[in-house]
Amino acid sequence: MKTISLLGLGNIGKTFIKTKNINLKNVVVRNIKKNDIIFIKRLLIKKVLISKNIKYAKSKIYIETIGGEKVISIIKKIPNNMKIITANKNMLALYNDIRGISKKKKLFIEPSVGGGMPIINIVQKLKIKFEKIITIINGTTNYILTCIFKNINYKKTCELAIKKGLSEKNIDFDLKGTDIVYKLNILINIVYGLKIKNKEIFREILKIPKKTIIRLLKKNSFVIKYLAKIKKKKRIIAASIYPIIIKENSCYNIKYENNFIHMFSKKYGNIFLKAKGAGKFSTVSSILSDIENKNNVIFKKKKKNIIQIE
Ligand SMILES: NC(=O)c1ccc[n+]([C@@H]2O[C@H](COP(=O)([O-])OP(=O)(O)OC[C@H]3O[C@@H](n4cnc5c(N)ncnc54)[C@H](OP(=O)(O)O)[C@@H]3O)[C@@H](O)[C@H]2O)c1
Repeated sequence: MKTISLLGLGNIGKTFIKTKNINLKNVVVRNIKKNDIIFIKRLLIKKVLISKNIKYAKSKIYIETIGGEKVISIIKKIPNNMKIITANKNMLALYNDIRGISKKKKLFIEPSVGGGMPIINIVQKLKIKFEKIITIINGTTNYILTCIFKNINYKKTCELAIKKGLSEKNIDFDLKGTDIVYKLNILINIVYGLKIKNKEIFREILKIPKKTIIRLLKKNSFVIKYLAKIKKKKRIIAASIYPIIIKENSCYNIKYENNFIHMFSKKYGNIFLKAKGAGKFSTVSSILSDIENKNNVIFKKKKKNIIQIE
């Protein structure tokens, strides 16, 4: 069994570390905290490294659960050809360097997009340039919208999302659509082989509707969802994020922290996937599937015409 180094001991790291039957060689932290040491010792893990000493980790697989774009400097120190699994959409969507890194090291990114849906693996294997993709790809906003349509007030809903470990530390990252922009950016690269800028994705910020509006919509069997769409026509790609009113009985009315992705292809037919899209357990399950995965991703730099829609 290949040796594993775990980078970061936060929400995801602490959940991953409890997985049975993994060959964890060491844990890489920013600084040694007393509580973390007690936690690690209880799990019988002997070696803890500080991240500036990552070159001594010497594992075959590195699981990055630190987050944030600055982690790129740590990733660069991992020897070439090693397997790196990351949940870090910020780093993947923000850094031009990521293309070079993905050519030198074996990058696996399933945990970064779509929670428990094995979306990266599927689109990589199918190699279909779907004409249209419609998705709810942010579990936090879907959780919030579901709760407020169940008459739970907004403040309480946000507290619940944070307590359940669904939202980022800064909930605006979800509500303003930034998380979705990053995930679409990554998807567009993997599905269409295109490098786009985050600002090329049209984004309408989600505004929490007033109680009177919610009441009116519910009375008429409608709900609000925060959808993302990618369209491809010949050389043109259009990507957008927007809140939308849909019928309660629509197949897009998925609830709580679930995500879905609906991919359309005239030639190959349509694919619909649904799974939990936020939270530590769905992220850890994607990490575990990437440990077994053999198809690493290579980011592309090709540019095409990108337009905004709607
Ligand atoms: N939470 C989720 O449900 C979820 C879902 C999907 C994807 N993700 C992604 O998973 C990643 C981790 O998320 P998280 O919720 O586990 O974050 P988190 O709770 O903030 O954990 C991050 C951990 O990394 C440590 N760290 C920071 N800088 C470090 C460094 N230089 N070297 C070593 N360790 C360092 C932090 O230590 P300190 O305590 O010292 O700061 C903290 O323990 C992020 O990329 C996030 O976007 C999370």
